[in-house]
Amino acid sequence: MLQGSDHLKPPNPLKSSPLGKIYQKSTVEPQYGDPVPPRRPALVERMRPFTSTIFAEITALATRTGAINLGQGFPDTDGPAVILDAASRAIHGGQNQYPPGPGVPVLRAAIARHQQRFYGLDVDPDSEVLVTAGATEAIAATILALCEPGDEVVTFDPVYDSYAASIALAGAVKRTVTLRWPDFAVDEAELRAAFGPRTRVVLVNTPHNPTGKVFTRAELEAIGALAREHDAIVVTDEVYEHQVYDDAVHVPVATLPGLGDRTVTVSSAGKTFSVTGWKVGWLHGPAELVAAARAVKQFLTFVSAGPLQPAVATGLDLGDDFYASLAAALQGKRDLLIEGLTAAGFAVSVPRGTYFVVADAAPLGFADGVELCQRLPELAGVAAVPVSVFHDDPKAAASLVRFAFCKRDEVLYDAVERLGRLASLV
Ligand SMILES: Cc1ncc(COP(=O)(O)O)c(C=O)c1O
Repeated sequence: MLQGSDHLKPPNPLKSSPLGKIYQKSTVEPQYGDPVPPRRPALVERMRPFTSTIFAEITALATRTGAINLGQGFPDTDGPAVILDAASRAIHGGQNQYPPGPGVPVLRAAIARHQQRFYGLDVDPDSEVLVTAGATEAIAATILALCEPGDEVVTFDPVYDSYAASIALAGAVKRTVTLRWPDFAVDEAELRAAFGPRTRVVLVNTPHNPTGKVFTRAELEAIGALAREHDAIVVTDEVYEHQVYDDAVHVPVATLPGLGDRTVTVSSAGKTFSVTGWKVGWLHGPAELVAAARAVKQFLTFVSAGPLQPAVATGLDLGDDFYASLAAALQGKRDLLIEGLTAAGFAVSVPRGTYFVVADAAPLGFADGVELCQRLPELAGVAAVPVSVFHDDPKAAASLVRFAFCKRDEVLYDAVERLGRLASLV
């Protein structure tokens, strides 16, 4: 029978074993009143650089000051009614339990049809598609599945913030190719230098957030050639595939000769159907790579968004007019914002894709984009995010600022009028 405080001490099996001598550090029991040793920080070291996101900070600032939030990239309208109705029907029609692990069959089939219809890709919906909790989970699951600690992942900075965190979670190492203002072209020498014997993945994002760059076929071929040379896997985030403007063409990496068998393609319903809160994403690629991502995904979320999945299938099957009018409407919004930013005194890099514009605040006298973003709500009643936070080397984009234009026209007109106040600063 246990006596007094002995019940607080778990029995120590080592005490009675020969190994006990080795493992028992001290025979002196800690006494009440002894100094308490400093506690280990709660968060593991590899995640400490990722504790807050600039989006949360700027959104809080915009809410506090009543500024128009062009910082975070979410639309301020709902997606097409036909998709919302399909979700509602699924909820009321009893599709509220766990969907199958790889995703509901109608959505996997619709993803395969979409890839065939727009890009001529043959995708097997059963073995080559995985539905995920947004593109974010697709990227995390893929990186965690493919990378051993110490493996290297080539990325293109400025980079979407979840990439660096996923790479860190895997214990992998981020190797950076910097895309530089104003055209954000890939420097071939820098690209080659980023690859090495430990390169496991090259993580592409086209169209590219935050720059609005659409990677050219030649750039993607150069990346693909290096991936083959180093036997690396290409993970390509194409969530903005339908937001491409002017004469720019979105080239899916998986369509390039010799790359289909080493490419994982990621996309999401959030951007295409203006339902960012649904978090329905997917990936597709060779069965072996998809199975690897599935093995990790089943222990991250297992499944998600059951009734929303058939609704996204309805969206993917919408006619060409839906996709054409999405791009046309956003192109008009882009032009409106660019005109306003230029009139306010910014230099602007015209984006060929996504719904972001990068502007240089240096002509307005701001060498530091972070400082401008902290003051912009007070100066002009508008919020934006500094591009430097997307860089390993903040100096590469010191005075650059990103604005989102996926907002209603009246909101953009108001924002542009407010930004006009900056012109008096010059
Ligand atoms: C490049 C890029 N990838 C992924 C995501 C996240 O997609 P999801 O909301 O589907 O996880 C975003 C969202 O802003 C993005 O810009």
